[in-house]
Amino acid sequence: MPTRTLLAALPDQKPDPLLALIKKFASDDRPGKIDLGVGVYRNAEGKTPVMAAVKSAEHHLWETQDSKSYIGPEGDPTFVSLLAQEVFCDGMVTENLAGVQTPGGTAALRLSAEILAHDNDRSIWIGTPTWANHNAIFATVGLGIKTYRFFDPQTQAVRVDEMLSAFESAKCGDAILLHASCHNPTGAAISAEVWSAIAEIVARKGLIPLFDNAYQGLGRGFAQDVEGMHTVLKAADEAIVAVSCSKSFSLYRERTGAAFVLGNSATDVARGVANFAYHARASYSMPPAHGAAVVATVLADAGRRKLWIDELASMRSRIFEIRTELTNRLSAYMPQLAAVADQEGMFSLLPLTPENITHLREVHGIYMPDSGRVNLAGLRIEQVDQVSRAIGQLL
Ligand SMILES: Cc1ncc(COP(=O)(O)O)c(C=O)c1O
Repeated sequence: MPTRTLLAALPDQKPDPLLALIKKFASDDRPGKIDLGVGVYRNAEGKTPVMAAVKSAEHHLWETQDSKSYIGPEGDPTFVSLLAQEVFCDGMVTENLAGVQTPGGTAALRLSAEILAHDNDRSIWIGTPTWANHNAIFATVGLGIKTYRFFDPQTQAVRVDEMLSAFESAKCGDAILLHASCHNPTGAAISAEVWSAIAEIVARKGLIPLFDNAYQGLGRGFAQDVEGMHTVLKAADEAIVAVSCSKSFSLYRERTGAAFVLGNSATDVARGVANFAYHARASYSMPPAHGAAVVATVLADAGRRKLWIDELASMRSRIFEIRTELTNRLSAYMPQLAAVADQEGMFSLLPLTPENITHLREVHGIYMPDSGRVNLAGLRIEQVDQVSRAIGQLL
């Protein structure tokens, strides 16, 4: 029989290193093991609880929801418009802004990648390091990827000059990927001056910013976390914003997010949304309803919204407390690490070698990926001392 193999011809795919780390952690039976790898928020007891506002919304939905019929590729328009009020500022929510509900921030990025790739002369500029999936998402749709060095782990500083000169060398119509806040994996924050400098280049060169807004509320404050993004969006002719509700609402497995386009006219953004819907239809058809219904139920009710905002604030302050305590101790070993205190969100990228990371795992039961990214929310306050000593000796 003639053969033209299917499976044997496929490329080998390496398992996701974070998923491999989860498996290793699960099979470690030392009672004091510590997981700083997985990118989810954990409370002081090491749990990732359902937020109280989410529970209340789910209860309300259970009582009132009367259909599980299809919701369409664009998802729930009420969710999209309530979320837009939270992500964008006054004056930005106009007929020149429109969006669709997506299965998490990942699908929002994927739909964004699809419409960006329509122009096969367009590249996207990505600072390194970045969230590991960014490259895969843009490469999958065939978008040209150009990289620049965003961060220096030794000095813990953003390489502002390299970033700005990369944007200067981009072509009109190229896209630039920006993390709205809480940069994953570095935690590095961009100052208001640098956001303004980015905005100026975007406007002058006609670049298309694509914002990945996956951690709003876990950085400096719910509104503050998007101020830099607003500066750039106001300067841009056209832009895309991918929103994830996974972290901000602790809805990880409910796959809740949205993709927004900002353009020059209602007709243009409607075309953008129609293209999002086309790509949604051809891949996952339509987003799951539950998470978005929960978010809409939280945001539509002043009491639930306040409960959620307060809980988000307490998550933020727990991360901040761990960050401060860890920085105080680590900077005694390596003064440059004082900068970790000024970073934001759940992550920081420590200057550790893969050998250091193996040592931490094997000798101390402290788990993190080979990049040296630590999830500060994985730490309980009483573990900070022990972890700082173990890491400090390797710096
Ligand atoms: C920077 C960044 N963007 C997007 C996402 C995607 O989130 P979601 O789980 O909503 O797809 C993540 C998740 O870890 C992330 O870290």
